Amino acid sequence: MTRTALYPGSFDPLTNGHLDILQRAVQMYDKVIVTVAVNKRKSAVFTGEERIELIRESIRDYDWADRVEVEQFTGLLIDFARKKGVTVLLRGVRQISDFEYEFRMALTNRRLAPEIDTVFLMPDEQLTFISATIVKEVAAWGGDLSSFVPDNVADALRKRYKEINNG
Ligand code: PNS
Repeated sequence: MTRTALYPGSFDPLTNGHLDILQRAVQMYDKVIVTVAVNKRKSAVFTGEERIELIRESIRDYDWADRVEVEQFTGLLIDFARKKGVTVLLRGVRQISDFEYEFRMALTNRRLAPEIDTVFLMPDEQLTFISATIVKEVAAWGGDLSSFVPDNVADALRKRYKEINNG
């Protein structure tokens, strides 16, 4: 039996916190599907394809990379999980303030799909303050990104904000 989990998120972009959660997830599951949500109502810095490519590049050199799939989805997460036949959703929880929203989302998903459960994982405590939003703020002002995101993501952020700042 192959144990598979979905790891959904916006990943705009992938951070070292996400990567830490993914590293924990591959210890627990045979296969992890990183599920990149493309939400037309939420403005993103990177397109769905760009986010997927950044994730694939970031994990390429790990020996578990072949057990990770990266896919884009729109719509309800539980519909995507059902289509994939997966009954475990993984979410990273950094601090108590994350938990309220995560708890509501997990219970909503379970009400919609009782066979699907959410598993919460905690990243290394050194990474608990990192969020894609904070990383974008630092990138927008040209700050050092090296301890927040993988190198390829830092390069992509620098390039993207140069384009944005040059109008
Ligand atoms: O990285 P994020 O932005 O915290 O991820 C949130 C995400 C994409 C997991 C969540 O918004 C989601 O699942 N969106 C798809 C729509 C859906 O199924 N919502 C859950 C019911 S509350």
